[in-house]
Amino acid sequence: MDLKLTDKIAIVGGASLGIGFGIARTLAAEGAKVAITARREPALSQAAEKIRQETGATVLSVQADCRRAEDCRRVAETVAEKFGGVDILVNNDGAPPLGKVMTFDDVAWQKAIEQNFMYVARMVRAVVPHMQAQQGGSILNITAISAIQPIAGFGLSVATWGGVIGLAKTLSLELAPDNINVNTICPGYIETTRLEKVFAAGGKDPNIMRNQLIAEVPMGRIGSVDDVAGLVALLVSPRGRYITGTTIQVDGGLLRHVR
Ligand SMILES: NC(=O)c1ccc[n+]([C@@H]2O[C@H](COP(=O)([O-])OP(=O)(O)OC[C@H]3O[C@@H](n4cnc5c(N)ncnc54)[C@H](OP(=O)(O)O)[C@@H]3O)[C@@H](O)[C@H]2O)c1
Repeated sequence: MDLKLTDKIAIVGGASLGIGFGIARTLAAEGAKVAITARREPALSQAAEKIRQETGATVLSVQADCRRAEDCRRVAETVAEKFGGVDILVNNDGAPPLGKVMTFDDVAWQKAIEQNFMYVARMVRAVVPHMQAQQGGSILNITAISAIQPIAGFGLSVATWGGVIGLAKTLSLELAPDNINVNTICPGYIETTRLEKVFAAGGKDPNIMRNQLIAEVPMGRIGSVDDVAGLVALLVSPRGRYITGTTIQVDGGLLRHVR
């Protein structure tokens, strides 16, 4: 199926590694022009070059820290200026630290709010006018399965992503007349360096942790970044344009509830 992504202009956050990199590579392989962001060079430029070599696509790297308001504005302005607009916004980054809720002070909460929630609010504010000007677009947020099935120790993310899901649903109503869809994906366990850090932080042998997590997953494996990227590509493409306001898990069956 042709997703009709050729020459669409996409911004993918947190894309020097992991899920963001997988999404950027998939969109590029489908013909999109992709701008990727992350804080650290040279990893960001190297990721852009890798995607160019693998896909032949036009890839722009824009160094940015998603917790900084001016960086969010600069990313949107740079991409709109260099590529001539923005069709697709994928909000993805790292995540706040793990730990029990009772251990976090106001500084930790403020940082988590800046990183998970204000990042999305600011990127939307900066990018939507470009989408409105071209009468359409697509916004996709990456959160986590823990946002809809909380996990002890992930409180900073659970609480702040709850806000992102509410924001996305509200935006889906407000932006539908502009032909802009807004959806949120909740990955389960996905093979990335971040997951390795989660294994290492568990206080047990990482291999035992890994096997315990795999045992929780009905499909019996950790997901790949491509498992997430395939759904993202559909939702942000013209083929997915009638799908909006959804919160979808990509988790091998991990979520245990009936809606
Ligand atoms: N892996 C999983 O199992 C899993 C499951 C559910 C949800 N998630 C969520 O999905 C997201 C991506 O996870 P991942 O596993 O792909 O992580 P990852 O492999 O650690 O990659 C994170 C990416 O985000 C960038 N980043 C981190 N902080 C940033 C900031 N402040 N501003 C801009 N870029 C930033 C990183 O580059 P720099 O460090 O250079 O900035 C990197 O490119 C996270 O929010 C994570 O919680 C992951």
